[in-house]
Amino acid sequence: GWYGLVGAPTDVGNVDCGAAEGPGALRAMGLPRRMGMVDRGDVRGPAYDGRPDATGSRSVRETAAWCAAVRDGVAGVLADGGFPLMLGGDHAMALGSIAAAAAHARQEGRNFFVLWFDAHPDFNTPETTPSGNTHGYPAALACGIGHPDLLSVGAFTPLIRPDRLIQFGVRDIDAGERANLLRIGVEFHEMDAVREKGLEALVAHTIARIQAAGGGHVHVSFDIDALDPAAAPGVGTPVSGGLTPAETVGAMRLLGASGLVRSLDIVEFAPRHDRDGMTALTVEQVLAGFMAGRTGQRALVA
Ligand code: ARG
Ligand code: MN
Ligand code: MN
Ligand code: MN
Repeated sequence: GWYGLVGAPTDVGNVDCGAAEGPGALRAMGLPRRMGMVDRGDVRGPAYDGRPDATGSRSVRETAAWCAAVRDGVAGVLADGGFPLMLGGDHAMALGSIAAAAAHARQEGRNFFVLWFDAHPDFNTPETTPSGNTHGYPAALACGIGHPDLLSVGAFTPLIRPDRLIQFGVRDIDAGERANLLRIGVEFHEMDAVREKGLEALVAHTIARIQAAGGGHVHVSFDIDALDPAAAPGVGTPVSGGLTPAETVGAMRLLGASGLVRSLDIVEFAPRHDRDGMTALTVEQVLAGFMAGRTGQRALVA
């Protein structure tokens, strides 16, 4: 199988945080070429508009346009038999890739799961957002709640059954957002649980649960701010106390080896906040771990 890179160089979801520069920076550093990816280029969309709409959300129209373009780019890779790797861009773009992956899973008659690695649940709605930034919305939108102009990016709603969304590494949860998660019934593993049980054990348990449910299409949405800022400072919304590169590489290797994962997002890389290329290096290690798992090789941690 081949990896089809779909770049989404935008930060319409996050007040000009610098995530728009992510795909270009990783290309300039040679990552897609080194990792043997097929570069399908960048999708395009409108510029950020910071004026909030009647719901207090910013750049909803722009986010919807970008997500629709991401959806079509990712759908194109899936239709061509590739493994889509959506490179953000801010995390709002995951609404587009999840819309494509969910439609593909439905078409192929597979159960659909999303594993979400993030410091944030991204489970706000216009009613609960403290910021109005649409990158705080995508997981909730995938579960069918949120701004109607964003829900319509998907061909159906909800794109995912809430009990099939599992989050890892969350540690910065807004009060209304936590209420949303509990009401909708999402499984989320906060950092204290990760420290207690181990990320790899949690992920192995999740893989076993998915296999017991008959397998399916697993989409992994990886926000780089899931990692500890000591290893990955190049993000717009860093939160201390995050995942180590070693445990993340291990978990990604398990996911690759499971054979269940059929699409992947890597989002929120903001090169302007990076130090000495260390975030890019960590991202490459995480990706290499996943790829090594898929081909049955041992993951190397530098
Ligand atoms: N919870 C905050 C908000 O809604 C931060 C969200 C951060 N999301 C992200 N994809 N980095 O604004
Ligand atoms: Mn397929
Ligand atoms: Mn996120
Ligand atoms: Mn985040």
